[in-house]
Amino acid sequence: MSIETLILIIAAVSAASAIFGFALSRGAEGRKLRLSRHEHDRLDAILATVPEPGSTLERSCELIQEDATEALGAAIAALLRVGDVLTLSGDLGAGKTTLSRGVLRALGISGPVPSPTFTLVQHYETAALTVAHFDLYRLTDQEEIHELGFEDAYHEGAVMVEWPELLGPLTPVDRLEVHLTDSGTGRTARLVGCGDWASRLARLQC
Ligand SMILES: Nc1ncnc2c1ncn2[C@@H]1O[C@H](COP(=O)(O)OP(=O)(O)O)[C@@H](O)[C@H]1O
Ligand SMILES: [Mg+2]
Repeated sequence: MSIETLILIIAAVSAASAIFGFALSRGAEGRKLRLSRHEHDRLDAILATVPEPGSTLERSCELIQEDATEALGAAIAALLRVGDVLTLSGDLGAGKTTLSRGVLRALGISGPVPSPTFTLVQHYETAALTVAHFDLYRLTDQEEIHELGFEDAYHEGAVMVEWPELLGPLTPVDRLEVHLTDSGTGRTARLVGCGDWASRLARLQC
């Protein structure tokens, strides 16, 4: 092979690779540019619903009478799924058990829904999922929480916890907190969606 032919081959190969590389980068750019305005907006909307780690969302509802507390429970029930943790905070008589009853009624439990004050936990089988209702008011030792099967309960179904402050370090990151306070004749519910509940709370009807 003559030196001229060799130079020609090298020149042809480098020209071809330059053209190929340019075409590839144009292709990559083309793919980026191919998103329509509508698709961009949809992507932004989807990304906006992905919660930042540790993010929270808060809402408040006025519950003018007992029925409204149960109705809030029903609205929460519509969003509940396996792995969910609903914490219920507030003084004695704030309406924590009433709200839990609203959740269970909406899930189809028609029998009695007693306060688990003495048993510490009550288990329910509903058509949609199993629900464990905890009341930790009389808890004497944090070890008891394991013995009560708290972690198993929220891996197998949904849990509702009255006096969740006693969970301490066992408090799950993803949770819906309901804080109930007396507002005179009725109650005020402050809802705080933590972790994955930060985005789900926006869908709650109350
Ligand atoms: N929105 C409300 N307005 C007025 N009374 C309410 C409301 N919600 C619940 N109650 C009443 O509060 C009382 C105590 O409720 P309960 O659910 O047992 O409280 P807790 O479990 O927080 O101790 C009940 O008599 C219930 O009828
Ligand atoms: Mg109670």
